[in-house]
Amino acid sequence: MLSSHSLRCTGCGLRIAQNEARSNFRCATCGDLFEIEYPWSATRDKATDAGAAANQPNPNALRYLWQERRTSTLAADQSGVWRFRDLLPIVPVDKIVTLYEGNTPLYEMPRCAALLGMNWLLAKHQGMNPTGSFKDTGMTAALSVAVANGFEWVACASTGNTSAAMAAYAARAGLRSLVLIPEGKIAWGKLSQAMDYGSTTVQLRTDFDGCVRVLAEIVQRAPVYLLNSVNPYRLEGQKTPAFEILEQMDWQVPHHLIVPGGNLANCSALGKGFAELQHLGFIKRVPKISVIQAAGANPLYRWMQAGGVGPFEPVEAHTRATAIRIGNPASWKKAVKVLATTGGWVEEVSEQEIALAKAEIGAEGIGCEPASAVTLAGLKKLVADGRVGKEETAVLLLTGHTLKDPEYTIQYHRGALLSDKEAAAETVAQRAANAKLRREPVVLDAKVDDVLKVLDAMQAQPA
Ligand code: F0G
Repeated sequence: MLSSHSLRCTGCGLRIAQNEARSNFRCATCGDLFEIEYPWSATRDKATDAGAAANQPNPNALRYLWQERRTSTLAADQSGVWRFRDLLPIVPVDKIVTLYEGNTPLYEMPRCAALLGMNWLLAKHQGMNPTGSFKDTGMTAALSVAVANGFEWVACASTGNTSAAMAAYAARAGLRSLVLIPEGKIAWGKLSQAMDYGSTTVQLRTDFDGCVRVLAEIVQRAPVYLLNSVNPYRLEGQKTPAFEILEQMDWQVPHHLIVPGGNLANCSALGKGFAELQHLGFIKRVPKISVIQAAGANPLYRWMQAGGVGPFEPVEAHTRATAIRIGNPASWKKAVKVLATTGGWVEEVSEQEIALAKAEIGAEGIGCEPASAVTLAGLKKLVADGRVGKEETAVLLLTGHTLKDPEYTIQYHRGALLSDKEAAAETVAQRAANAKLRREPVVLDAKVDDVLKVLDAMQAQPA
């Protein structure tokens, strides 16, 4: 099973065996990132790969098997990542560390669709994973590899969600974990999770990009296994929502998938998932994958605006969507390939746009964290520009649960989120929409009549 995959450099094409990967997961020749390759991958040459053609996975058999596994009581079958293990054979089944991640809902979003004038809008809610974010799907994969390789320590730099996921899965496996997070720049819910799951949590006086730099040195000097998304095994787990979306849509391919962009690994993982299914003949085409960045953390958007050529300039990142407060994304080249091969776009959205979109998603009874709401805000722009047709089907990838960052939500509803300058920049329509959505808590004496008055006042307003 372990010899059934290798690591291929996405820069120079160099292939290495699993045990040849360096601790920082960068290519020794060109410094680029690796991806996991299988005998049946599109990048393999069937003619020279003995057995590859004969062992080509069969789409019909796998579709059936994946559904069947949902009724099994085996832990690996109940996981929404490992029930697809035929397309991610990276560890023996007895090494799998699972919290029954995946199998997340694909929700219809009728009110958001109506706002956009679209017929059909869906949201794949990866915030419904065990630790409340999409990171669990990647963490179960890479942490299982850490276990299989006999590591005692795992580590990550994080804007919060990776650390929460890593801490939980490490605790499950009985491994020790080191978290590096930027001091004061992550949401409390996430910090509390790392502590709850027993991680050694270090808050560095720097930003996320500074944490990444420090960790890159640490993994070279201490025997710790790096679990940031430069670790290509993370992406093997994170590609599985692509499989689930298709299952949930009865194998009808949506036209568009809209993904938030931070370190730019997730869009790459999903792109890999769809590409593999297309290559194997499960589907004939793939969705256009578009990436949305916060305007204050938009290095990919800037690079694409400048024509997609020349040096990639990191930015100093600022956004209240702390999960994607990243100025120097490690996986930008992988993301660019996914944009190019699927035909998607990059958009940027302002703090005002993120806040309103988050409230609109919340008002559907769905809810998400700020970084996830960039998807709806970005889709508004893509529809307005005609890049997404109103009759087309789009899926928003919601990456984190609303309870990850309750402080943001409370500030929004109290009207205390935006600075005066940002609030002044709101359009009339945005202001009206916010006024309708805001639900500031009312404090009253414990008198029935007073509460009934509130009810009457609300009744007088349109729902
Ligand atoms: N949404 C959420 C909720 C995230 O936590 C992240 C990344 C992203 C989107 C962006 O995904 O980095 O693959 O482009 N969070 C990382 C972390 C960086 O440390 O938790 P990406």
